[in-house]
Amino acid sequence: MQQVADPFSANAITHENLQSLVQDGRVHSRAYTNQAIFDLEIDRIFHRSWIYVGHESEVPKPGDYQARPIGRTPVILVRGKDNKVRVLVNRCRHRGAQVVETESGNTRMFRCWYHGWTYELTGALAEVTEKGGYGPDFKSENMGLVEVPRVASHRGFVFASIKADGESLAEFLGGAAAQFDMLVDASPTGEIFLDAGSNKTEYLGNWKLVGMDGYHPNFVHASVVAGWARNSESGIGAMHREDPFSDEALTLTRDYGNGHAMLDFRAQRLKSYKKHAEFLSKVPGGVKYVEDMHKAYGQERAELLISLSGDPHLGVFPNLQLIGNQVRIITPIAPGMTQVTMSMVRLGGVSDEINTMRVRQHESFYGPAGSGSPDDAEIFERVQRGMMAEVNPWIEISRGMHREFVDTDGSVVGRITDEVPQRGQMKYWLHLMTQAA
Ligand code: FES
Ligand SMILES: [Fe+2]
Repeated sequence: MQQVADPFSANAITHENLQSLVQDGRVHSRAYTNQAIFDLEIDRIFHRSWIYVGHESEVPKPGDYQARPIGRTPVILVRGKDNKVRVLVNRCRHRGAQVVETESGNTRMFRCWYHGWTYELTGALAEVTEKGGYGPDFKSENMGLVEVPRVASHRGFVFASIKADGESLAEFLGGAAAQFDMLVDASPTGEIFLDAGSNKTEYLGNWKLVGMDGYHPNFVHASVVAGWARNSESGIGAMHREDPFSDEALTLTRDYGNGHAMLDFRAQRLKSYKKHAEFLSKVPGGVKYVEDMHKAYGQERAELLISLSGDPHLGVFPNLQLIGNQVRIITPIAPGMTQVTMSMVRLGGVSDEINTMRVRQHESFYGPAGSGSPDDAEIFERVQRGMMAEVNPWIEISRGMHREFVDTDGSVVGRITDEVPQRGQMKYWLHLMTQAA
């Protein structure tokens, strides 16, 4: 019998069969389950786009570093003695060992564990052990840790791109850029610090499943949402006095283009401003916080920023999400395995009690023993198992197509339960996946 080649094996993928995976309102589950597609995602998305690496406040002092991945490429986010933040490839120039093994720390130099070569914080090669083994052609100045070609930051969020040319970070972020303000300007001094710890989770599902779904909370998180609604005097309760996840709510979904999408809670939470400010007034430092916010931003904007509580609920494609009180990094490990790191945010210029309350709120829903994230991980694993069935391989993402519209700022808008984010993400995914080198 003649063997039919799998069109989605590593050397058979074509522009046309990639195109066939994303259609009007539906996606083929291979986009989530196939190893060759996953490998291509790493090459064409993670190794070409702007990828979020970390926040400047995670490396506050010279010598502070964070070891993170860009796709398959391990990198080091490091602050130099000159105070400059660099992104270096975490790969020894001798025989390729990963130089930094710990996730974070402070150091004067980087020293490779294998044969002891040392590098400056700038990446420059400082010393080679037993140097006499190299002749006059060996040029130390050409043997530093490689700097990732493009690094840029927006409001302290550092992005890097392995691809040497392409659109600027500002062009890439587009309309999503302004939504970072909703988080950073929740501080009256416009400062955030990612130094309140982080928690990590790993689920057996695809990286594209996590976040930006306003349809699921009333089902996956039914008991939690009901609990919030009962406790309407609390900060979160004030936001949930009226069901934010119903089609009747003022909550919206938005697609800003380039895969960036948002669950837009602004109008809905603004309605609860008075209740929320009243709740804050009972927290030590809360009255001053409200006053300081008004002084810094004026009444109208302060009320919006206070209501939103630093939660733009923004997904920046492909690996950054600003949700609740956390900065979330999505790391694809395999088609059916994803790591999610959630770093809690500390607001500058507010009382410790306010920050403590925000951390407790994060832990209660997103923490390892929280009421939310474990259920999300469980549902993503069920989705991944279901998608392995090839009987009818299509995933339906058409919800709200008939009622979405383009807003004055150019974003595509739908109701909160609509799959506007999923369509926006997969549209850009297809665009990147079908770009030639
Ligand atoms: S691989 Fe780093 S010193 Fe040899
Ligand atoms: Fe969820």
